[in-house]
Amino acid sequence: MKIPPVKGTRDFYPPDMVRRNWIIDGWKKVSVRNGFEEYDGPIFEYLKMFQIKSGDEIVEQLFSFEDRGGRDLALRPEITPTLARMVNQQINSLPKPIKWFSVPRLFRAERPQKGRLREFFQWNIDIIGADDNVLADAEVIFTTIDYLQEVGLSSKDVKVKMSSRKLLAAVLRNIGIPEDKHDALYTLLDKKAKLPPKTFTEMLDKQVHDSKQANKIKAFMELESVPHVEKMFSRDNEVVMANDELAEVRHRLDQMGVADYCIFDPSIVRGLAYYTGVVFEVHDVVGDLRAICGGGRFDNLLHDFGGPLIPATGMGMGDCVLQILFEQKGLIDKNLPEKQLDYFVATVDKPLNIGMADGVVEKTEEDIVVQLTAKLRLAGYFATFSYKAGGLSKQLKEASDRNAGKCIIIGEEFKNNQLVVKDMATGKQELVDYDKFLSGLKS
Ligand code: HAM
Repeated sequence: MKIPPVKGTRDFYPPDMVRRNWIIDGWKKVSVRNGFEEYDGPIFEYLKMFQIKSGDEIVEQLFSFEDRGGRDLALRPEITPTLARMVNQQINSLPKPIKWFSVPRLFRAERPQKGRLREFFQWNIDIIGADDNVLADAEVIFTTIDYLQEVGLSSKDVKVKMSSRKLLAAVLRNIGIPEDKHDALYTLLDKKAKLPPKTFTEMLDKQVHDSKQANKIKAFMELESVPHVEKMFSRDNEVVMANDELAEVRHRLDQMGVADYCIFDPSIVRGLAYYTGVVFEVHDVVGDLRAICGGGRFDNLLHDFGGPLIPATGMGMGDCVLQILFEQKGLIDKNLPEKQLDYFVATVDKPLNIGMADGVVEKTEEDIVVQLTAKLRLAGYFATFSYKAGGLSKQLKEASDRNAGKCIIIGEEFKNNQLVVKDMATGKQELVDYDKFLSGLKS
């Protein structure tokens, strides 16, 4: 019976693992150089962890189950609630600001589509308890851009689209939308780019019955710059303050030298329920892919999980859209680390019969190959031999296919305790004393 892989999951064959590791190694390297420390949590948590504040979309996509003790659990669809729980547990002893990163494997029962699967990896960076909110928001965005730049995505390839939940809330209040309708509206407004315009308008009209109000919301979401917002809502203090905050983040990003990546886009709302301030997403410029990453400020989340009111900001970047983009731009294969084998240990075609005493062979050529390869490995080298029965030329071909730096050939000379060492790049061969070769390895 053949059992297929589960829909929306991936098998990682060795070449796929090389790609996956390259992405994850890049995330980790950039996190560390930006001052983030790594953490992780469990793959499953209590179901209610993700029901409290993640929002309806995530709740609908949960893989949940009841364990034998009757506990309702769920596979993690994101790590931010776990982060909030873990920080709350040690809130008094952790030095602030907390700058942590993680690369969790996540699970969402989405309809699998281009760039969205049911199991994926997501890079998370978060800053909690910083005194300067603007600087922390800018640092999260800078670190995101640092990675994009590191892998060769320029501001011509991708854009950081920024807006603010505070700004949106102020605009909705200004338009006269009651506070208790905001959360449901955020969920709909977040979907604007993904829905056909007619469907979006129909759905908006269902939530906002006054057509003047609905039109104002649509007009706001199409504004192209912060000054345009100021013009439309010039006398609203809250709007002005939220605008100023966005401008300050932008100013910091300018100082950091990455402002060319950033644009203002009031249609960025974010689907998750816990965002409270600046929000952003990275999109490819062509615009035919889902968001590469998303994040923002979530100042109430730790409090919602029973902790103190403490400022927090961060972002999550999945590996799926990123991989599609890398393939489109030819960035992966160009950047993958070269596989380098230090030594390939080969033998000449003839059996050697070393140490024959009274017709008893003490060491076969295979014994020497195995012993020498083991010695090389124990000395820290990447060394191997051939499993295939074949002559020297076949073994040399295998060594070259495996990108070996050097090939050691065990031949007639071994009877005089000597090895042939062939430099695979130059083709130069030299005879080396076996004992000297071994002591050279140790030093
Ligand atoms: P999110 O917008 O749900 O945010 O996800 C962030 C990113 O994760 C997306 O932009 C995408 O790259 C990736 N992603 C999400 N769902 C899938 C999926 N089904 N398949 C593949 N990739 C996916 C969060 O998760 C927040 N917790 C991020 C955050 C951290 N905010 C503050 N700190």
